Amino acid sequence: MYAIAIIGAQWGDEGKGKIVSLFSQNVDIVGRFQGGPNAGHTVRINNETHLFRIIPSGFLHARDAIIGNGVVINLEIFLEEMHYLSSLKKDAVKHIWISDRAHVILPEHIAQEQHRINKKIGTTKMGVGPAYTSKIARSGIRIADIISKKIQLNTSPKKFQSAVAIFKKVYTKQCIDSSLFLSQQAKTKTLLLEGAQGTFLDIDYGHYPYVTSSNTTAGAACVGIGISPKDLKKIYLVSCSYQTKVGGGPFPTKIEDPIVIKHIQKNGDEIDGVTNLLRDCGWLDLVMLRQAVRLNAPDGIILTKLDVLSGIGDIKICINYLLKGKIITVVPSTIDSVEEVKPVYKTIPGWSEDIQYVRNKTDLPKNLLRYVLYIQKVLQIPVYGISVGPEESQFVYL
Ligand code: GDP
Ligand code: IMO
Ligand code: MG
Repeated sequence: MYAIAIIGAQWGDEGKGKIVSLFSQNVDIVGRFQGGPNAGHTVRINNETHLFRIIPSGFLHARDAIIGNGVVINLEIFLEEMHYLSSLKKDAVKHIWISDRAHVILPEHIAQEQHRINKKIGTTKMGVGPAYTSKIARSGIRIADIISKKIQLNTSPKKFQSAVAIFKKVYTKQCIDSSLFLSQQAKTKTLLLEGAQGTFLDIDYGHYPYVTSSNTTAGAACVGIGISPKDLKKIYLVSCSYQTKVGGGPFPTKIEDPIVIKHIQKNGDEIDGVTNLLRDCGWLDLVMLRQAVRLNAPDGIILTKLDVLSGIGDIKICINYLLKGKIITVVPSTIDSVEEVKPVYKTIPGWSEDIQYVRNKTDLPKNLLRYVLYIQKVLQIPVYGISVGPEESQFVYL
């Protein structure tokens, strides 16, 4: 199989859903390999907006979709999502495949997060952390357990029991060994793997403890769906052209100027689809992006939301950090140090043109190209394309 992975470069919500959907126009199978309904991936096609939580975003285009073993599944949300997608895609039920090794988010996992002591992380309260905790503690329940008759759910809430009953009735045939399934596909087929969250929410390489409970970087794509690292032929990073964040933790380049922040939040519609919280916004952080490039070794990077920066005036880019009076070029391992860093900025003149209708590189404003080329030069990887609006078609290949 020819496998491609799309990975978030920042703290999630980079616009991965849109890019995955766009790229899925030419692939056979789309897959998710980690995360769960903490993800909210938005796709807009012909002015209609679709939010994907557990199902891979490309399912409206690609023939088949797989939810890999690395994902944690909320069965009620899965059923709701499939109900919605069935109204848009013919035979959707026959084309969704669920790894029988994927873990299930249980009602008690969600309950645990409602009363979580550590409130500072600000999780999505979807029970994702507790479900992964059960997995690692080897006490989790997997899809295979759910579809076998062995598991006793008498004490579970009625809503959960009824979701299990519907799931078993409708989807038992769709529960598979994802690795075996993929190995049986023709060699010419393409598989697009959609990352959830982003590099700096990775449990190991993110701003720990302000992270999610899975590995979000490219290395996880193989183990979370059941392919060899040798099968991964291309990796693309998706980065917003500025920084956004929901949840707690350090934000070195956070913008304080109320006029600038208002411009971004308004034009970028910066409200999180899962938590309904307003996202914090900041200038692009190349210290973080350099690290994301090192960790994911992408073939190219895709920059999103450049339309939001139109008319903002001068644009700042963080090129290094200052820590205790010294220049540092990498993200420190300890959270106390990350809290302490001060960004070192380069200023680039902005552009005022409306770019949402631009589809050719030659029609882009000169200063926008300067911004993009500067990012490309620092990161030493090609900028593959830029997104100039939320619609799937609003994209310029570079
Ligand atoms: P994901 O989690 O990475 O898939 O990103 P989300 O879908 O959670 O958040 C990205 C938001 O930005 C969504 O509302 C998208 O519709 C929107 N979006 C994506 N690309 C662009 C773009 O180029 N310009 C604008 N204005 N919005 C975009
Ligand atoms: P997508 O895939 C943005 C954040 C939460 C919180 C931290 C831990 O749409 O990019 P969790 O519920 O995972 O235990 O929360 O991670 N977070 C996200 N932020 N986009 C996401 O997903 C996120 N998924 C989790 O806000 O700070
Ligand atoms: Mg999102």
